[in-house]
Amino acid sequence: MKVYGLPADEVSRLFRGGEVCVAVYGLGKMGLPLAAVFAERGARVIGVDINPRVVESVNRGLNHIEGEPKLGELVRRNVRAGRLTATTDGEAAAREADVMVILVPVVLDAEKRPDLRALRAVCTSIAGGMEKGDLVLIETTLPPGTTSGVVAPLLESSGLRAGEDFGLAHCPERAMTGRVVEDIMGAYPKIVGGIDRRSTEAAIGIYRVVNSRGVIPVTNATTAEMVKVAEGVYRDVNIAIANELALVARKHGVDVWEVIKAANTQPYCNLHMPGAGVGGHCIPVYPWFIIDEDTRLIRTAREVNDSMSGFLVSRLEDILRREGERLEGSEIAVVGLTYRPGVKETYHSPARLVIEHLKRRGARVYGYDPLLSEEEIRSSMGVEPLNGERVKWAVCLHGNGHELRINAERKIELRQIFA
Ligand SMILES: NC(=O)c1ccc[n+]([C@@H]2O[C@H](COP(=O)([O-])OP(=O)(O)OC[C@H]3O[C@@H](n4cnc5c(N)ncnc54)[C@H](O)[C@@H]3O)[C@@H](O)[C@H]2O)c1
Repeated sequence: MKVYGLPADEVSRLFRGGEVCVAVYGLGKMGLPLAAVFAERGARVIGVDINPRVVESVNRGLNHIEGEPKLGELVRRNVRAGRLTATTDGEAAAREADVMVILVPVVLDAEKRPDLRALRAVCTSIAGGMEKGDLVLIETTLPPGTTSGVVAPLLESSGLRAGEDFGLAHCPERAMTGRVVEDIMGAYPKIVGGIDRRSTEAAIGIYRVVNSRGVIPVTNATTAEMVKVAEGVYRDVNIAIANELALVARKHGVDVWEVIKAANTQPYCNLHMPGAGVGGHCIPVYPWFIIDEDTRLIRTAREVNDSMSGFLVSRLEDILRREGERLEGSEIAVVGLTYRPGVKETYHSPARLVIEHLKRRGARVYGYDPLLSEEEIRSSMGVEPLNGERVKWAVCLHGNGHELRINAERKIELRQIFA
């Protein structure tokens, strides 16, 4: 049943009653949980992915995303119940669906400009199967202005008009890896911003059923895009502050972790933690969506965070020198390779930069992380995994008890790096 133009309550009723067919484009770490939760809440869901292995596995009721509590059970149950299927044919899915949700990645190209190729490809296949009354929702984080300036014209190649014949809204995915199902179902409210009032209204009707914390409608799609980018930028700049404070604390012989813990007891202070840099799909990427000549602070924060791996290796060099050793030729294990503790993700991980700096200075580098297999360490970090053998030095980029299991003569933790 088409939902664009209906009141939110009516959309919710139809969605719960299984009368709305939703196509979710991109069955990755965010898209598969979203598709499974939509199905769990009553919709008939068609997952679309260009990867045939992903499609085949979903159709067999299998979950290919690791480390997401409840996801396996949700996928199995909803595939068995016939509410969740998958296909590689995005145009056919659009023909069948009433609501199309886009959750394919936007990454950065070599010049740090957003690469919209996957988004454009999805829009083109949706345009090939769209009908009057459809609603398109974009959950992928986008540079402000993309929904109305790029997506709407691409969808209008269907011959239909956005805001007249079909609805279009940006509804950013705010979930965090490792807790995606819980976040989607209502750890915090959903933000929705339509290109017109009717798009926002229909989107509210859908996400109210999904998110127990409710929906926050914002003025338009560009506002919604900016909300998500702002969340990422806030964290990047905040971490840069923590990193600079760590450098200052060092000069004064002060422990920055003690400073931050005490400062954060004041309700208006929420300093993040210093470290080897910032990684993952989101925080190091989104600032580049808005960096220009007016965003000096945001650009500088990016530079500060990216420079931390170099600082860390210089400090390591000092520590070795004090013991009469050199980085060149030394055996060093880098411990804690994922971009943050407890999450099996190495995208933009600061560990990779640390390893590059160490290799450039001639060190013999090994990697260790209990969340990664030996093959994953080789392919994602370009180093040999440490396999129980003893090394002289180990540098621990984040906790998790990794350091306890390492067979190293000298273990260096971040606290010592910043001391
Ligand atoms: N990963 C995160 O922590 C996170 C958190 C919040 C929001 N997001 C947003 O979600 C987006 C997707 O992230 P993800 O982690 O799910 O990515 P992912 O790499 O895990 O999955 C993306 C999926 O999209 C598929 N795909 C690529 N091009 C396609 C196309 N043209 N048609 C259909 N499918 C296609 C891929 O095969 C893959 O299965 C991010 O770009 C970001 O905007 C991510």
